Amino acid sequence: MNLIEVRDYEEMSQIAADYLVKQVRKNPASVLGLATGGTPQKMYELLIADHKKNKTNYNTITTFNLDEYMGLKPTDPTSYRYYMDQNLFNHINVQEKNINLPSGLAANVEEECKKYEVRIQEKGGIDLQILGIGSNGHIGFNEPRTAFSSRTHVVNLTASTREANARFFDSIKEVPTQAITMGIATIMESKEILLLVSGEEKADAMKRLFSQEEPNEQFPASILKNHPHVTIVADKKALKGVVVPV
Ligand code: F6R
Repeated sequence: MNLIEVRDYEEMSQIAADYLVKQVRKNPASVLGLATGGTPQKMYELLIADHKKNKTNYNTITTFNLDEYMGLKPTDPTSYRYYMDQNLFNHINVQEKNINLPSGLAANVEEECKKYEVRIQEKGGIDLQILGIGSNGHIGFNEPRTAFSSRTHVVNLTASTREANARFFDSIKEVPTQAITMGIATIMESKEILLLVSGEEKADAMKRLFSQEEPNEQFPASILKNHPHVTIVADKKALKGVVVPV
């Protein structure tokens, strides 16, 4: 794991945006894995600004989001599809047919999960996956104790994850109890991973990630130690008290 230590959220976002633009310019047919949540919001803002200014072309890219809540329509302001539309897709020239999120409304969820995996395979796999991390070490919505061999699947969200995400809803009662997420094995098949981490509330997760702890399912992000091409961009607050091995 390659670590880039940055000052703050702004610098993390700028480095992440530059990284992504470079990827798209290098390979205009890039398959990007995208995340939602608070962490990548500023990165998306910077991508939009860059698209306006420098005309970075997204016409031939394909995107796969990590996850989506169960039971929310894509037009629901708290769905991840809506988040992506508002924060990125409506402002760049990505083609609708190339946008992929699992559907939380699928009648046959098992089938939907399988189809999502097939679509990723058909596109040749994910070239660059953007990840955030939960304070309990979750990646995607893969909570502690999710099998490392997991592929796209339905999850029951933990109380701590629902509490952390309640800020995007009117009240915690409205936070769905289930989601569909890429599995850990799905994420690990990405050719490259960019993990973005900002803020003190992530410091314990970062301490654990940089500890001697072997990859284990109690702490999902620990699997990243086994991936050959992971870059972590983390700010000072997230790295508070972290001893980075040399
Ligand atoms: C989002 C996702 C989650 C978040 C994580 C951190 O698509 O899969 O794993 O990356 O919960 O969320 P924030 O960025 O809001 O702290």
